[in-house]
Amino acid sequence: MAGEPTRAPVEGPARPGAGVLELRDVTKRYSRDGRAAVDHLSLTVPAGEVCVLIGPSGCGKTTALKMINRLIEPSEGEILIDGHSVRERNPSKLRREIGYVIQQVGLLPHLTVSANVATVPRLLGWEKERTRVRVRELLELVGLDPDEFSGRYPAQLSGGQQQRVGLARALAGDPPVMLMDEPFSAVDPITRERLQNDFLRLHRAVAKTVVFVTHDIDEAVKMGDRIALMREGHLVQYATPAELLAQPADDFVADFVGADRALKSLSLTRVEEISLIPAPLVHVGEPALDARARIDRGEMVPITDHVLVVTEDDRPLDWLPVGRLDDLEQIPPSAPGGAEPVIDQVTTLRDALSALFEANAAYGPVVDDQGRCVGLIGAPEISAGFRRAAGVSTVEVPPSAPATLDAGTGGGGG
Ligand SMILES: Nc1ncnc2c1ncn2[C@@H]1O[C@H](COP(=O)(O)OP(=O)(O)OP(=O)(O)O)[C@@H](O)[C@H]1O
Ligand SMILES: [Mg+2]
Repeated sequence: MAGEPTRAPVEGPARPGAGVLELRDVTKRYSRDGRAAVDHLSLTVPAGEVCVLIGPSGCGKTTALKMINRLIEPSEGEILIDGHSVRERNPSKLRREIGYVIQQVGLLPHLTVSANVATVPRLLGWEKERTRVRVRELLELVGLDPDEFSGRYPAQLSGGQQQRVGLARALAGDPPVMLMDEPFSAVDPITRERLQNDFLRLHRAVAKTVVFVTHDIDEAVKMGDRIALMREGHLVQYATPAELLAQPADDFVADFVGADRALKSLSLTRVEEISLIPAPLVHVGEPALDARARIDRGEMVPITDHVLVVTEDDRPLDWLPVGRLDDLEQIPPSAPGGAEPVIDQVTTLRDALSALFEANAAYGPVVDDQGRCVGLIGAPEISAGFRRAAGVSTVEVPPSAPATLDAGTGGGGG
């Protein structure tokens, strides 16, 4: 009867709302004499951290995950949440307290989006109004407008939107532990990156202990506070992404991580962690003379002879050559899109660099969670930020080194 008021204060959660998850010598044999699918797996996930389980197909990731919420019973060993064995818990009650997101999403097709999200609150017997408020809040949290999406059915959603609904549903009962089995693998790379960023932002807002299964080492490095690399049911290495990249335990880990470890370490740093170039912002409707005066006074420094046109609330629209300021009265409106790539500040240096290469742009505006421009980033800033993060100071690059990309475009690639 764990979880009741008598619970012992075993390693009280460092983050309220999250639980410490501990696997002790957990083994699963599907048949009596067969090889163990999970073999004496021991690991602890501190409250509020994301643990990524990764390894080749069939190594036991899904089995390990399903033992945590008792969809599968371990043959041996113990699983504890906040010091209490899950075995003592009623399985269906336990499952209401553990959010679960699976690759196929598993939304109920005959229920609307809001009814799907409300599954757990209903099982928990919440009042109608409380459930309604919670569902709206969750849909907003995962980036779906409740007015637009509440009444739709799963078949009327894109794959990425379904993933978001699945995530909202898993969060609905405010569970201290979330299990996510390849949650973003069914969507295209662009949607996946967006879902990853949204999840990271969400995770910051709502502390949860998360076990996240993936095949993809880049996703592991990006999402994990710690990575557990498995092979044939065994835990081969359990380490922070930085440790895993810097000190693979053996050849298997080194092979799995891949040869481009230095490049992968770009995923260890987020754009918001490095120094950005102040963005030369001009607002739609602003007198061009004022913009020119700010440049002349040195208050604004154009980048490769361009300034960035933004909306009233600083959302990037397009680049404008400085020379145009002299012909214009006001900064004209322009359609968004000319300032691509627009880079989310929670994304990794690796994703940012890849976005710049893809757009053939020397610089991209960096935006916060409201889409407001907070600075500019280019390959030199990424390189400097990476070297600082990695503690590398031996490779000297002159600060004036020309950008390898076509700097003349300012950003938009023409
Ligand atoms: N119900 C089952 N009965 C018997 N064997 C099973 C069962 N489920 C899984 N296995 C076996 O257990 C091993 C681990 O399977 P599991 O699904 O945990 O792997 P996984 O790491 O999640 O793989 P993938 O990356 O392909 O999803 C595999 O060899 C699999 O064939
Ligand atoms: Mg699996």
